[in-house]
Amino acid sequence: QRTAISWQEEVRRLARERDAVILAHNYQEPAIQDVADHVGDSLALSRLAASTDASTIVFCGVHFMAETAKLLSPDKTVLIPTAQAGCSLADTIDADQLRAWKAEHPDAAVVAYVNTSAAVKAEADVCCTSSNAVEVVNSIPADQPILFLPDQFLGAHVRRQTGRGNIEVWMGECHVHAGISAADLRAQVAADPAAEVLVHPECGCASSAVWLAGVGDLPAERTHILSTAGMLDTARGLTAKTALVATEIGMLHQLRKVNQQTTFLPVNPKASCRFMKMITPELLVRCLREGRDEIQLPSEVVERARRSVERMVAIGK
Ligand code: 13P
Ligand code: SF4
Repeated sequence: QRTAISWQEEVRRLARERDAVILAHNYQEPAIQDVADHVGDSLALSRLAASTDASTIVFCGVHFMAETAKLLSPDKTVLIPTAQAGCSLADTIDADQLRAWKAEHPDAAVVAYVNTSAAVKAEADVCCTSSNAVEVVNSIPADQPILFLPDQFLGAHVRRQTGRGNIEVWMGECHVHAGISAADLRAQVAADPAAEVLVHPECGCASSAVWLAGVGDLPAERTHILSTAGMLDTARGLTAKTALVATEIGMLHQLRKVNQQTTFLPVNPKASCRFMKMITPELLVRCLREGRDEIQLPSEVVERARRSVERMVAIGK
């Protein structure tokens, strides 16, 4: 008699059969994170995609992340459980818009956040993620102007951190992070004044957080502007009773795993990315069974887009 196996067992069995490694972003549903081989931020997952021995990469994340994996591992099969999983931030700029912007600033170096299409990456000089944006910008000579795209809040953060006055920023935003407001943050801190505060630089409240900390409305020494990987590193060492977290709510799962003493609370509990949440157990099983959706990249952009991503991966190695 056959006993029914769980979807998790089915995923692991199919992954073995396909010689697939399953990568999941920190914003995935907890059950998807738990079934994956590796969970991480965009940078860590890009590095894993570049170095894996598996012949297939299954990317539980959004489309640009799977595209980045394909750029770094062009000979491997890269699958995403649904190609519909887009990114509202990546959609704020296309290659034509970037070409027009570059034409206005012919001397500038172009730094593109990985949250962009491969066609936009092909027009950039170097990519970055929220983990290494400051490092990437600092790798460019101080007197060279920079076009930074597409996130205005991350761009403002990079300007503050580097102190450079020669960075032009594209005015894009992520609808999820832009929706985490300074008012949300102030209200939560007022209700819990002893809490640590972890803020992703893509948030609408990131600039306000720095300003509020400066005028004493937020605890300056307890306000941290961090990428998702930075949040995990900081969370490991926290001893506070609570930490308020301003980013997509999927992040709370890993934070709660690395530190069970501190209670992690979302600054805005509605900050959920509908694209990240399109990856479901059913679609992950379908992906492994049927080999879909497969990432295919337009050959005319591949070489140039890969160069931008490889330059990023090499920085800080
Ligand atoms: P990370 O680069 O921190 O993984 O974030 C990716 C992302 O989509 C942020 O919204
Ligand atoms: Fe894109 Fe925002 Fe979703 Fe991240 S959270 S994948 S930036 S829409």
